[in-house]
Amino acid sequence: MAEKRALNIVKMKKMKQEGNPITMITAYDYPSAKLAEEADIDIILVGDSLGNVVLGYDSTIPVTTDDIVYHTRSVARAAGNTFIVADLPFMTYHGSIDETLRTVRRIMQEGHAHAVKMEGGAEIALQVQSIVQAGVPVLGHIGLTPQSVNQIGGYRVQGKDEQDARRLMEDAKALERAGVFGIVLELVTEEVAEAISKAVSVPTIGIGAGRRVDGQVLVFHDVLKYDSDYREKRFVKTYADIGAEIRQGIAAYVNEVKTRQFPAQEHVFNAEDTVIAGLYGKVKEEAVK
Ligand code: KIV
Repeated sequence: MAEKRALNIVKMKKMKQEGNPITMITAYDYPSAKLAEEADIDIILVGDSLGNVVLGYDSTIPVTTDDIVYHTRSVARAAGNTFIVADLPFMTYHGSIDETLRTVRRIMQEGHAHAVKMEGGAEIALQVQSIVQAGVPVLGHIGLTPQSVNQIGGYRVQGKDEQDARRLMEDAKALERAGVFGIVLELVTEEVAEAISKAVSVPTIGIGAGRRVDGQVLVFHDVLKYDSDYREKRFVKTYADIGAEIRQGIAAYVNEVKTRQFPAQEHVFNAEDTVIAGLYGKVKEEAVK
């Protein structure tokens, strides 16, 4: 089989033009990224959802640049033939351009990402432009933007009224003018997501944004139910239940250790009889009595 080659932003635009859906999934560590690459995913996102699903926070806000760099580096080691996008964490692109570029430099040079993702619309266009001018591809992200959850007032669907729909459309166009190579649309009504996808030349990648976008992204732990108290979400389809598999596997291990079924003879390394005799001064049979 021919080796997989990482996608690039030129090919992504072509995929949109040809109606070939782009697939993206989050991953945060070596094994998950390796499995995603083996499953032929187009893009891996080291999302700041890392805060919720890996680090145990109740939002993405506490996730730091150090966290993103650390996790992106392990993903990059695993998935050398996949396009890797990493999130710019909360408030790392709202100060000076210099500070923003320093954060991007770390994520690219230390994390080995191919691109960064930023939440926001027209209000961050200047920062997006500066990063793109520095030679770094930027993926936009509008609709429900979890870093602003306290301002939005919760995780609610966007684009439900005309004013909101117009704002989303203007934000998408502002991001396109600023040079993004694609736009994530999160929790957006299907009709508004379709209108945006038709209005911009760059691919749109939806999560809870319906069917008429140019690609889909989901969180690794949602796709696989990799959580002990997984909560169903309407916009997610689960394809496996590895949480239950893991729990059963660990419980079986605990039970076998408690009942002395593990380790069994096949898991044991035996010494030669002469070694036993040397240790105990007796032959093996007598020594182990
Ligand atoms: O952080 C993340 O995982 C994301 C996706 C939900 C798009 O931003």
